[in-house]
Amino acid sequence: MLVPQVQLGQATFNRQSSVSRLPSVEVTVYPYECDTYGHMNEAAYLQLFERARWEALARGPGPDLFRRHGVWPAARHATVDYQLPAFPGDVLRVELETGKIGRTSLELHQRATRIKDGALVAELQIVFVMIDGEGKPTPIPPKIATIFGGRLSARPGELVRHDVGGVALAVDTRGDGPALLFVHGFPLDHSMWAHQVATLARWRRIAPDLRGAGVSDAPDGGYSVATYADDLVRLLDRLHIEHAVVAGHSMGGYIAFEMLRRHRSRVTGLILVDTRAEADSAEARKGREGMMEVARTQGAAAVAERMVPRLLGRSTQQTQPNVVEQVKAMIGRTPVPGIVGALGAMRDRPDSTPLLATIDVPTLVVVGAEDELVPPATSRAMAAAIPSAAMRTIPGAGHLAPLEAPTAVTRVIAEFLEALPRP
Ligand code: MLT
Repeated sequence: MLVPQVQLGQATFNRQSSVSRLPSVEVTVYPYECDTYGHMNEAAYLQLFERARWEALARGPGPDLFRRHGVWPAARHATVDYQLPAFPGDVLRVELETGKIGRTSLELHQRATRIKDGALVAELQIVFVMIDGEGKPTPIPPKIATIFGGRLSARPGELVRHDVGGVALAVDTRGDGPALLFVHGFPLDHSMWAHQVATLARWRRIAPDLRGAGVSDAPDGGYSVATYADDLVRLLDRLHIEHAVVAGHSMGGYIAFEMLRRHRSRVTGLILVDTRAEADSAEARKGREGMMEVARTQGAAAVAERMVPRLLGRSTQQTQPNVVEQVKAMIGRTPVPGIVGALGAMRDRPDSTPLLATIDVPTLVVVGAEDELVPPATSRAMAAAIPSAAMRTIPGAGHLAPLEAPTAVTRVIAEFLEALPRP
């Protein structure tokens, strides 16, 4: 690691560290490290901490960890907190904890204690910036962030809350591999993708509740397709993900289009499910306002009663009562400010039809054969307007195809993903 600019004196240590997966190591103090009085000074501690970091890497993921990922940690700032002298022959245990992990920066804390009496002799707080071969800051590769204790995944199904700038999103993250971001529709939550998230192995699946949905924060205002898109890109930043294939269902598709408009370089593929490119008609806008009123005056359950018959295909309504109940419950627990906010965001969304001809990432369009909100003909026309988009129709499913016919939808998505070049 590069030699940092040294700042000596009292360090303020952030105690909200996360546990890194690097082992603690024991290092011996050598005579050449000690000053003319025979003890370690602060500058010598700086070197000793560096030695301990390399030792920990050598015993853990390997001293070539950074080179393997094409990056290098450049130390930018370091503060040594000197507590006690140490002398030649003393053996010190050095433990390492991770402080903040940013998109490109990593803060580490090291503590050295004397083995013979357990006394704390020095602490170090050090900030690295990950750089590429040209010395430019570059995102910390996910594998490295994980080794340093970045909380990037949880037990399957466990939601982790990620602050995306004043709003916390609840996120289900599973698996390893290239990133696949699932964006749910309205007024639903991440669980509509349950089958796809559980089974699309070899991909890093990320399924958030959007702001105002599920158990994410639901502020009173601040909803637009641009805000949703920016939230998701901040989430990718927090997870140290540079690019993702984005799967958007209905409103999630409107958001995916906005991600393309605002953050094109982050999207490497598109899966558009039961969605459309056109903006709302005047009549649809009036309908949104009527539904806002229902939500405000009668609550989410009343919205569910009105919407479920239109969201689910007739086959599902006749043969899958459990899915009908599941969707009612999902809508019923959506916070009213989130419902009202999403309706306003959809009412005001821009027309995405001019975008279609410019889409240059691999795209799959999926539609339920019984979708009445976005009929198959609308999806076919959208697919035809996107250069080289594939189109799949799911028999027996309505507007909520991923939930109504989960196996069939997962299969067509898996086939599409299989054909993508893997980075
Ligand atoms: C959705 O499923 O996200 C909504 O039905 C989309 C819409 O109302 O336009």
